[in-house]
Amino acid sequence: MRKRIYTVLWGTALLGCLATWPALPGVLRIALWLSAIVANAPGVIVVGKLFGYLWVRTIPGYLGSALLSTVLWEPVIRWLERPVSHSRRVFLVGGAGLVLGGYGAAVERVNYQIRSFQLYLPDLPPGLEGLRIVLMADLHCGPVNRPSSMRPALQLANDCKPDLILMPGDFVHYSYSYFPEAAEWLEGLRPRIPGGVLTSWGNHDHWNDIARAQSALGACQGHRLREQRLVLTGKRSLQDSGSGLWLCGLDDLWEGKPDLASVLRGIPADQPRLVLCHNPDVAEEQQAGRVDLMVSGHTHGGQVSLPGLGTPILPSRYGQKYASGWVVGPGGFPVYVTRGLGVGAVPIRLGVRPEITVFELRRNDKNRQTVLL
Ligand SMILES: [Fe+2]
Repeated sequence: MRKRIYTVLWGTALLGCLATWPALPGVLRIALWLSAIVANAPGVIVVGKLFGYLWVRTIPGYLGSALLSTVLWEPVIRWLERPVSHSRRVFLVGGAGLVLGGYGAAVERVNYQIRSFQLYLPDLPPGLEGLRIVLMADLHCGPVNRPSSMRPALQLANDCKPDLILMPGDFVHYSYSYFPEAAEWLEGLRPRIPGGVLTSWGNHDHWNDIARAQSALGACQGHRLREQRLVLTGKRSLQDSGSGLWLCGLDDLWEGKPDLASVLRGIPADQPRLVLCHNPDVAEEQQAGRVDLMVSGHTHGGQVSLPGLGTPILPSRYGQKYASGWVVGPGGFPVYVTRGLGVGAVPIRLGVRPEITVFELRRNDKNRQTVLL
């Protein structure tokens, strides 16, 4: 019995490793990932971590990760070896889980939804009335989120005729080797304003070597906004200084040192400002005067929403508050959390479609608040 279980685990761990091989077609890669996760979830996580941190895309690396992940299963094997009576119900539930998982991986994972809003900002320069901003986050380019499978999202974003595109972080997953692919995907974006793809870093960008992220993404059309700011003038040009709509980038909360006060320092009080920050928890932990809107990602909307349970996996210190959509933090400024484009360690979406957000800017002359309609 033990030998047979080890054989299965070893095999599935190898499948999981094989699923990261870039030359494989996307559908096959997803099928491999699913089979590896169903049979060997802890192993897949270990393999993923090794890929992220140690750069083991070599034959000994693949075999070593598979072996390590198999050893991790020892307590589970002991539990499996106890005498049990297998009921039909177990197989029915397992089968239904597989069908749902398959749907979530193959269909809903790439079923992009465009959410459009009118964003009313106080003090908006007249020349920026009607400006269209597209927000996308959490590309997670990697073994599951292949640039080819995300090409429809690229097309949808360009079809929205954006003036600016904001992308707050998490460009890759598992390995820095995917930064060039992420950069290539970004090169396909077509903002009307030159240099109008603005980015900030997420936790996964840090985990996979931020220096390589900077060299890969810095070479493409995006302006890097980590702890930096640019101003979009009334004539719709991006500048380092001047007056207009300020676009401020913050570093990631988990792996960087975001400082909201310093990025806003010196901006005249009567000029509107948007902040890009991967992790929306920053709104809970930092307040520093006027912020007209913070745009974030990170939570992926929870990726899986279950009836009665909501979204059980949400990487936020503040429960479900920053799962997705429009939220107001304790500092009184609004945050919009997009559900993101890609998926994380769990390669499915259920009840939480990937999102492309479009804001059309309007001047708010009636009151001094940001309004989203
Ligand atoms: Fe993410």
